[in-house]
Amino acid sequence: MIRMTLAAAALAAWAGGAQAQAPLVAEGCIGCHGPNGAGAGGVPALAGRDRAELVALMAAFRANERPATIMGRVARGYTEAEIAAAADHFARLPR
Ligand code: HEC
Repeated sequence: MIRMTLAAAALAAWAGGAQAQAPLVAEGCIGCHGPNGAGAGGVPALAGRDRAELVALMAAFRANERPATIMGRVARGYTEAEIAAAADHFARLPR
């Protein structure tokens, strides 16, 4: 998992400069949530979800108010601005 996330981050850094399509923070999500956040192997889809809902879910994970295997730790690893950028991005993608 960590390897995949790092690979995605490295790829994003490499694609950066020329304004990568997805913000760097979103590249860290797709390793688990699937290409374009479409969901993968039981990990829920993020694409096309309501932006405010995504932000609220992340806040709940951060506060330990929503049961999670991994998302509590993931959510606490990002700033609110990064979460907002990721939510913007996934909300714009087709479901
Ligand atoms: C290490 C794998 C992993 C990474 C990285 C990851 N997620 Fe998740 N995500 C999960 C899993 C697994 C769940 C299901 C809840 C749980 O078990 O923690 C989940 C659930 C969620 C949910 C709740 C969806 C729902 O319908 O319940 C949201 C929102 C979410 N993730 C957003 C994100 C965002 C945004 C990022 C990037 C900043 C991200 N995730 C990165 C694995 C991951």
